[in-house]
Amino acid sequence: MPLLKVQDLFVTSTENSTYLLKGISFSLNHGEILGVLGESGSGKSLTALSVLGLLPANLKITSGEIIFDGKELLSLSFQELQKIRGKKISIIFQDPLSTLNPVLTVGDQLKEILYYHLGLKGPSAQDLVIKTLREVGIPDPELRLKNYPHELSGGLRQRVMIAMSILCSPKLLIADEPTTALDLTIQMQIIELLRRLNSKLGLSILFITHDLGVLRWLAHRILVYYQGQIVEAAPTEKIFTKPCHPYTQLLFSSYPGREKSPVVVQKHEEKPSKEGCEFWSRCAVACERGLKEKPSLIEIDHDHLIRCFLYD
Ligand SMILES: Nc1ncnc2c1ncn2[C@@H]1O[C@H](COP(=O)(O)OP(=O)(O)OP(=O)(O)O)[C@@H](O)[C@H]1O
Ligand SMILES: [Mg+2]
Repeated sequence: MPLLKVQDLFVTSTENSTYLLKGISFSLNHGEILGVLGESGSGKSLTALSVLGLLPANLKITSGEIIFDGKELLSLSFQELQKIRGKKISIIFQDPLSTLNPVLTVGDQLKEILYYHLGLKGPSAQDLVIKTLREVGIPDPELRLKNYPHELSGGLRQRVMIAMSILCSPKLLIADEPTTALDLTIQMQIIELLRRLNSKLGLSILFITHDLGVLRWLAHRILVYYQGQIVEAAPTEKIFTKPCHPYTQLLFSSYPGREKSPVVVQKHEEKPSKEGCEFWSRCAVACERGLKEKPSLIEIDHDHLIRCFLYD
């Protein structure tokens, strides 16, 4: 059984009933790092927020299932979900300052989490906090405990975030562009840290990014999003060596080290109907069938799924 299974998830806006996620399905296995790729607005963050039960108030899940560790999350109450969040599933965002509490020291914030989820306090909490700060590569953790978030550099703050997120030994870490705001070298250190936590602690990670290079290094498998749907899913090496969906090919055509791909975005005269393929108007190999029919996600090879009529 996978650790996380999302099945046919639809998310819509309550204001104009447009669908923002249109049937997202994927599994994340125990110990796996699953990368999520796709342009801005394609629904990557909404997927993460759905799993955490943290969708903005004007959005709602209209159908689908989210099964985590054998439990259907969508049927849980707010309190039940609250217990899972931060303990069994944790998240790190791009900007630690928006998540860290500015008026509490690093040590107090970490201890608060331990008390809330595990009922730990006193010296045993202190010890675990120091051990975790050390684990994420923060030098002199005994001193850092006393710092407020603004007193730390961006890289250290992101490490504190990671320390917070692994404090209760979660099974799943959701990382939504955790390194985008950092310098390249710090970025690589954080990625290396996540990789080590994965191999050492078996931490499963859902890693959302725009950065192909990071994913190649980090992810075992990759999902490619386009407009609220998954258009391709495959093991990382397969996606890098043989991207199949015309959109994935387009994404990878600018990846350094790849030969410039012959894929050219065409301007089509015709417009697909509402029932047509979402990618049609940007597709280099747009087909007749896509004008009035939507492709479904099919398996073209072991563990390799594509949403495209070319492979149907
Ligand atoms: N609260 C909201 N109300 C209405 N629409 C929203 C809301 N939040 C997100 N959206 C829309 O849902 C779509 C998916 O958003 P999402 O944040 O998941 O994109 P993303 O793939 O994470 O993009 P990025 O790479 O820029 O972070 C976008 O079109 C966005 O405008
Ligand atoms: Mg996002």
